[in-house]
Amino acid sequence: MKIIRAKDYQEMSKIAANILQDKINEHPAITLGLATGGTPEQTYAYLSEDTQTSFEHVTTFNLDEYIGLSPTNPNSYHYYMNKHLFSKVNIPTEQIFLPNGFAEDLLEECRSYEQKIKQHNGIDLQLLGLGQNGHIGFNEPGTSFERHTHIVSLEPSTIEANARFFDSIEEVPKQAITMGIASIMKSKEILVLVSGKAKNAALEQLMHGKIDEQFPASILNTHENVTIIADEEALGNI
Ligand code: GLP
Repeated sequence: MKIIRAKDYQEMSKIAANILQDKINEHPAITLGLATGGTPEQTYAYLSEDTQTSFEHVTTFNLDEYIGLSPTNPNSYHYYMNKHLFSKVNIPTEQIFLPNGFAEDLLEECRSYEQKIKQHNGIDLQLLGLGQNGHIGFNEPGTSFERHTHIVSLEPSTIEANARFFDSIEEVPKQAITMGIASIMKSKEILVLVSGKAKNAALEQLMHGKIDEQFPASILNTHENVTIIADEEALGNI
């Protein structure tokens, strides 16, 4: 794994946005895997400000979505992506894919989401955040490394960590659809963004811990093209 050390959140976001811009400019029909959460917000802001990079031929697949939230619910990841990126760049709607957590048949939704990724020849560049418990997407500790898109029950610690986006912790959904570890690992290249003190222990375990399903992100050590961009607070003494 390659590590890029950034001074702070802004610099981490700028570096990530520059990498994404370069990739899009090199391969205008790139398929991107996108993440939500607090970490990539500023990366998306930088991408939105850039008028030189065209999203006209870009296809995107998001990692995950809460079950039971409609795409218009402000806490859904559909809403988040529209707000932070899709409404601000020239990406055609039909090239945007997110799991539908409001689908009637959720198992079928998982199957067809995975199928759609395959039909697009997989993900060229996957952007990832890192959960404090080592989750990637919503793959919680203990998830098999072999899983593709599936339904997950969120850990109490994840519900707590994400409650800051909701009016109350009771409103945080208990389940989500997420691309699995196997889906993520098929990406040709992976970019992991890590910012802030709260991620220091997780980053240390990712970089120096053993590969273990109890720490989902650890599998990234076996992928041949992973870059971590971490800021000083996340790096601490690592
Ligand atoms: C969330 C999301 C992940 C995200 C991670 C970290 O629960 N499902 O995709 O990467 O947890 O979130 P944050 O960036 O807000 O710390």
